[in-house]
Amino acid sequence: GIKIVTIGGGSSYTPELVEGFIKRYDELPVRELWLVDIEEGKEKLEIVGNLAKRMIQKAGLPIDVHLTLDRKTALKDADFVTTQFRVGLLDARSKDERIPLKYGVLGQETNGPGGLFKGLRTIPVILDICKDIEELCPNAWLINFTNPAGMVVEAVLRYSNIKKVVGLCNVPIGIEMGVAKLLDVDHSRIRIDFAGLNHMVYGLDVYVDGISVKDKVIDLLTDPANSSFVKNIDGLGWEPEFIRSLNVLTCPYHMYYYKKDQMLEKELKNYETGETRAEVVQKLEKELFELYKNPDLAIKPPQLEERGGAYYSDAAVRLISSIYNDKRDIQPVNTQNNGAITGIPSDSAVEVSCMITKDGPKPIVVGELPVQVQGLVQQIKSFERVAAEAAVTGDYEKAILALTINPLTPSDSIAKEIINEMLEAHKEHLPQF
Ligand code: NAD
Ligand code: G6P
Ligand code: MN
Ligand code: MN
Repeated sequence: GIKIVTIGGGSSYTPELVEGFIKRYDELPVRELWLVDIEEGKEKLEIVGNLAKRMIQKAGLPIDVHLTLDRKTALKDADFVTTQFRVGLLDARSKDERIPLKYGVLGQETNGPGGLFKGLRTIPVILDICKDIEELCPNAWLINFTNPAGMVVEAVLRYSNIKKVVGLCNVPIGIEMGVAKLLDVDHSRIRIDFAGLNHMVYGLDVYVDGISVKDKVIDLLTDPANSSFVKNIDGLGWEPEFIRSLNVLTCPYHMYYYKKDQMLEKELKNYETGETRAEVVQKLEKELFELYKNPDLAIKPPQLEERGGAYYSDAAVRLISSIYNDKRDIQPVNTQNNGAITGIPSDSAVEVSCMITKDGPKPIVVGELPVQVQGLVQQIKSFERVAAEAAVTGDYEKAILALTINPLTPSDSIAKEIINEMLEAHKEHLPQF
């Protein structure tokens, strides 16, 4: 039987994952699911772990659920390790979102200064986990969901000995589902050629039953109601002239780059009303855990769909199943570029449609990205690389460099001020600095 270990098991997303394992049990016979957390997450782990047990019991499946704060015991002989942890919990996210806004810079959990600091807190932890994997389950696949997923996978590829790593985001599958809905066809008939980076991914073409419908879908993206595919970002719609000439599908995170002023204005309002995303999610999480506590609840409650990570379980479990069963189907994941996208280093992480085999994802060759998007993708990759290096070394100057070359930062001076304030605010979780 398969042994799965989920690090950050106390996450409110865990029932999503458990539902995925239950639904695909026939093709993916999981025997053991170990949910790992830390002291601060103990109560969440208890609550969500007990719900997981009830869900599995209701489904009548022989999956043992173990709850533990002891990562090493959990990892012994694991087949798949999934990571979904948040160093510093939502309080840290709130700082990531709010501090940059004081300097007129967007605050977001995976972009700009917020993304940088989430990376600085997370990368040392993931590299420790990699060392444990090397020692305790060297054949396991590491499926990383922890944000900033692109930067985290970049760090694993460059600074650990783990080769069997895949980064996962629900945005590509969310776009597929969203486009299917817009076109009113079943999502199984939609295929999108994805290429780029995590939260910086483009759909180079989109097909229904093999026929390109790109022009039609691009037109639909001009409507604000259609322009975001995740709950955590309000789409603002694209100028028709811009999106038509860009001539590829955008992801919701592109709003922060191509609509900087309008997105910032929205965030500044949220800052004032106390409704930044971290604050919204704090309330949502409270409600979710109240529901999870109910001993009569044995399903994933629909309220979880208000979180940005919808379809995460589908994405995660279909990926694990395709590796386990050597399915060779196509899925968008974060993996080593290996020459698939020209102009991005071969050893860097990219988010790209891949054939998923027992030996991992094999990227489908893209070649050069269209000129109109290539520059931004390269710039973000440079940011991620310098940021990962800063996270590993604790080099203050590298952190300032990383933030200054990020396209959301107005100047080196503001970068330095933000870095100074955020290093202080997060110092408890940044032992390397
Ligand atoms: P959360 O705040 O609920 O944190 C999850 C758990 O991680 C908590 O129970 C916490 O105690 C635990 N944790 C913190 N540090 C840990 C450590 N060192 N070891 C083990 N556990 C630790 O977070 P969430 O909102 O459920 O999100 C979890 C993660 O998933 C975040 O990093 C988030 O950004 C990410 N996420 C990714 C995507 C994606 O598309 N890749 C989508 C949604 C969420
Ligand atoms: C999705 C993304 C995640 C992101 C999350 C935020 O957009 O793919 O990477 O972090 O949702 O969701 P939340 O509900 O926590 O704001
Ligand atoms: Mn057991
Ligand atoms: Mn994501």
